[in-house]
Amino acid sequence: MPSHLLSIADLSYSDIINLLDTASDLKEKRKRGKTTDELKNKTLAMLFEKSSTRTRISFEVAMTELGGHAIYLNYKDVQLGRGESVADTARVMSRYVHAIMARVYKHETVIELSEKGNVPVINGLSDLEHPCQLLADLLTIREYKGKFKGLNFAWIGDGNNVCNSAMLACAIAGMKMTVACPPGYEPDVNIMNKAKELGGTVNIIRDPLKAAKNADILSTDVWVSMGDEEEYDQRLRYFKPYQINSKLLELAKRDVMVLHCLPAHRGEEITGEVVDGPNSAVFDQAENRLHIQKALLLKLLA
Ligand code: CP
Ligand code: NVA
Repeated sequence: MPSHLLSIADLSYSDIINLLDTASDLKEKRKRGKTTDELKNKTLAMLFEKSSTRTRISFEVAMTELGGHAIYLNYKDVQLGRGESVADTARVMSRYVHAIMARVYKHETVIELSEKGNVPVINGLSDLEHPCQLLADLLTIREYKGKFKGLNFAWIGDGNNVCNSAMLACAIAGMKMTVACPPGYEPDVNIMNKAKELGGTVNIIRDPLKAAKNADILSTDVWVSMGDEEEYDQRLRYFKPYQINSKLLELAKRDVMVLHCLPAHRGEEITGEVVDGPNSAVFDQAENRLHIQKALLLKLLA
């Protein structure tokens, strides 16, 4: 296991399987009401430059249920928001807490936190990646499909941070990835090259119908990510053909599973009918954030 989780590619295949096994075990124990206090007296600082429902709540509950504590820090409420440097913040926080989870605009910020502090840093979403999300997605895929190798993973829509991590996760786990996106909205080219170096197959195409054909997994995310709000009108126009709806589902395999990291904008990137339909795994996927992050916290902190 690495000391930080900044990119999903920080983890090897066996690290990931190990985390998934621990998460499944913790999930099962939670159902039976079994608790642990392995992180007693450990504190996680959760630093947020952007909004969050799932990441904030699941990390906070994870620390509570492992016997530790989490502190929510909004960027604007700490001195970082008034100009204290990231480096000094990292050094000071390292004197108090045992790990930092950060949701930031620039990926460089999580790198700097990890380099200047001396506690584990977890990327809770940056402009480049969302590794915790993909760990939860892999757990959900394994629960539904029982395997990874050879599955067709189709991403419909924006080649954003979640898509970048999905490309790497597919490469590591042995799934074939197809991304259907409009020109100019492709995933990050360096990450794509990295996915290929890891042995991944990544196809970037324009036609969402072609991407959906024979898909085992259909995944998407909002058309307007946090930080992209100024491009709202333009994005809504460009992405219009890239909606996961029942017509698209018909082209995929009958047992296709639909993923969305949430929040969903029903009627934009996905229809409400699909979110609530029989192929949707989105609420299991959201729940799995809790179990996989518990596993991650145990590996990094216990
Ligand atoms: N999927 C996800 O990270 O959700 P939040 O933005 O609510 O944390
Ligand atoms: N791509 C989205 C994910 C939100 C969880 C964003 O960055 O806003």
